[in-house]
Amino acid sequence: MELRPLGKTGLRVSAMSLGAMTFGESATFMKGVTSPDEEARAVLDAALEAGVNLIDTANVYSEGRSEELLGLWLEGRREEVVLASKCRFPIGFGTRKVGPHDHGLSRKHILKACEDSLRRLRTDYIDLYQVHMQDGSVPIEETLRALDDLVTSGKVRYIGCSNYTGYRLVESLWAADRQRTHSYASVQLQWSLVTRDAEREVIPACKRFGLGTLVWSPLARGFLSGKYKRGQAPPPGSRLEAWKDSMKSLDNDRNWAVLARCEAIAAAHDSTAGSVALAWLLARSEVSSIILGVRDRAQLADNLRGAALKLSAEELKSLSDVSAPDWGYPYNFIGVREAW
Ligand SMILES: NC(=O)c1ccc[n+]([C@@H]2O[C@H](COP(=O)([O-])OP(=O)(O)OC[C@H]3O[C@@H](n4cnc5c(N)ncnc54)[C@H](OP(=O)(O)O)[C@@H]3O)[C@@H](O)[C@H]2O)c1
Repeated sequence: MELRPLGKTGLRVSAMSLGAMTFGESATFMKGVTSPDEEARAVLDAALEAGVNLIDTANVYSEGRSEELLGLWLEGRREEVVLASKCRFPIGFGTRKVGPHDHGLSRKHILKACEDSLRRLRTDYIDLYQVHMQDGSVPIEETLRALDDLVTSGKVRYIGCSNYTGYRLVESLWAADRQRTHSYASVQLQWSLVTRDAEREVIPACKRFGLGTLVWSPLARGFLSGKYKRGQAPPPGSRLEAWKDSMKSLDNDRNWAVLARCEAIAAAHDSTAGSVALAWLLARSEVSSIILGVRDRAQLADNLRGAALKLSAEELKSLSDVSAPDWGYPYNFIGVREAW
């Protein structure tokens, strides 16, 4: 497995990493679409065996159970992995009353959430601690100071963010500079052939300021795997059968055309649509690691094939062309003259 630098840090992360959002039985947003524990453990073992060294979880995945299972299953091999977790959202949202400090990016919540994650993960430190989404109600200085304290106290090695706007990301970099605190080393963002919005602001910002990028939902929640067919009901038990709103927003001419192009290119390589979609991402120099989300070992094996698939320049261009959104203003204005 290829190793890539995570931004400007000394970390070397596998080009494909494993997301643990499918670990543990969930009562909230992943209800019914996670893996049985035995299968999740086998997926973890197989991923590590294949050379994956970055594991991504969050305090909210299966209401903390994802972290607990990782804590159990990584015993004895903790040092082998770059363990990433997140805070920001309230655990069990929608199923319980949430207090004002049970979520958000205040100093109070971050320090408590980190202690809780460390306990569930059965570890003394988290390699990459990420804020799960920006929080406009808290001064960025407060958030950064709290994260900095976690780094200096040894509970966290690096800090990162996820789901940030371009302006808030750059504001955070300025604030860290001004305060001389540790700064975000990476951004975790949604990116795939059918969701390219981050290419407008956040990805160019990562490139310019040397932040690593970790890609979530690289298959658009499974849409790009090829198992969904236009005009047909989603396979029973699949994520997009359960997540009807997501399927509705994916079900449009452009996205089916993107999938058809992936399938055509896959046929020429005796591969799968999903592998082609992942190979397109891996070909982007900005990508540090693609976080795979899988339900079982067969999906993992299928997706890992994308790491070995080398697409030609024409194939990459044809995928970029068919998936290009209307970038809008000022990107179209700038784009005819130079890269933005
Ligand atoms: N920072 C954030 O806000 C954020 C948000 C979301 C995810 N993440 C991270 O990113 C990771 C990946 O996200 P994701 O799970 O949405 O990724 P994804 O790759 O877009 O979707 C994964 C789902 O697609 C289906 N699938 C995957 N490979 C397949 C294959 N080869 N054949 C058929 N179906 C396949 C499976 O669902 P079914 O079998 O159930 O249909 C699987 O659970 C998560 O685990 C998490 O660590 C972060």
